Amino acid sequence: MPLDPQALDPQTIDPHAYEDAAHLLDSAEEVHVGRTLQDARPPSQEEILRVENLTVEFPTEDGVVHAVRGVSYGLREREVLGIVGESGSGKSVSSLAVMGLLPKNARVKGRILFRGDDMLKMSARKQRGLRGRKIAMIFQDPMTALNPVHSIGDQLAEAVLAHELMPRKTALARAKEMLDLVGIPQAEARLRSYPHEFSGGMRQRAMIAMAVINNPDVIIADEPTTALDVTVQAQILEKLLEVKDAVNAAIVLITHDLGVIAGMAHRVLVMYAGRPVELGDTDPVFEEPRMPYTAGLLGSIPSLEGGGSSRLRPIKGTPPSLINLPTGCPFSPRCPLATDVCREQEPPLAETDSGGHYAACHHWDKLAAVEDPTVFFRTESETVA
Ligand SMILES: Nc1ncnc2c1ncn2[C@@H]1O[C@H](COP(=O)(O)OP(=O)(O)OP(=O)(O)O)[C@@H](O)[C@H]1O
Ligand code: SF4
Ligand SMILES: [Mg+2]
Repeated sequence: MPLDPQALDPQTIDPHAYEDAAHLLDSAEEVHVGRTLQDARPPSQEEILRVENLTVEFPTEDGVVHAVRGVSYGLREREVLGIVGESGSGKSVSSLAVMGLLPKNARVKGRILFRGDDMLKMSARKQRGLRGRKIAMIFQDPMTALNPVHSIGDQLAEAVLAHELMPRKTALARAKEMLDLVGIPQAEARLRSYPHEFSGGMRQRAMIAMAVINNPDVIIADEPTTALDVTVQAQILEKLLEVKDAVNAAIVLITHDLGVIAGMAHRVLVMYAGRPVELGDTDPVFEEPRMPYTAGLLGSIPSLEGGGSSRLRPIKGTPPSLINLPTGCPFSPRCPLATDVCREQEPPLAETDSGGHYAACHHWDKLAAVEDPTVFFRTESETVA
């Protein structure tokens, strides 16, 4: 669809439309009672993790799945980097690559530098020393990571003993400390509980305890609260921020929830069809997106008043097949700003009009020219004042 010049006319834009989106984000932020990102210790300038041009392919019977196509980002000490994108955009696969948890048939290329050392080139022994210890992961469903037949205390102690030689009693004492840290009451007694005896929120707290028990420098949290109800979500996220500071770690936070990113992430990386399409400090990216896909995500936040949360509602159309990617920008079939060049050339992730704000879009300047970039994704009835 060619660019509709009318859509760029400020007269056709509802002046309140973007205000509404901003209001929804504010409301979502308010869920995070207590500790917020502002209270957290600020990131240092020191980069701890650098992912460079990461690609992951899966050969399948139907063809090669290009799951991750050139992901690059840096993570500074104590920083929270949010990764957001629709289902299937490569968020989990890119993080599992960092953890070395991909299936054997995965073809991984690029560089994953931990304090400057390429993990993809390290000996298996050295990799094991980092993964689970210096880089820890929190999964969406704690039941997949917790063993149902062992007590919580045993599992936490094992996590310590896998990396450090010490008496079991000392490891159990550390386990108790961690349960205290994540806010599980009567920690001493709870060490003897089994995962099924914990509520969903308590299990996720135990997962966080497991992730931080070895004092990691990086925590990768993949949809850590999606399975929980909104109030418990807020408590867990708040706890995650608190615990991150207690162990002085940085976080890669994967989520569908823009409200969570707004309240918790210093920077945000937006992914689409296996690639980063926008990267920058959270506020400028949310306030002035430079990639239509991001604008579409912001425009698709359902009303909180309707009883929903800030969970994404899909933008019209579906993401492309990662086996047969279309030529050009993969978002072009769904993009209201697409022109011929979009259908011919895939745009690189490049710096936009403000420093540190990157976007992969031929026409980011057209978004910059309107007051409300989400307007392109609104229906007519929503934009008529
Ligand atoms: N083992 C595998 N073999 C083949 N394809 C895979 C494999 N694992 C993941 N994929 C594909 O890689 C793509 C990226 O998947 P990924 O799990 O990273 O998405 P995601 O962004 O985390 O989505 P969600 O939000 O649903 O968790 C998807 O198309 C998925 O089907
Ligand atoms: S490159 Fe073109 S199709 Fe892709 S997001 Fe930008 S305007 Fe839309
Ligand atoms: Mg995922």
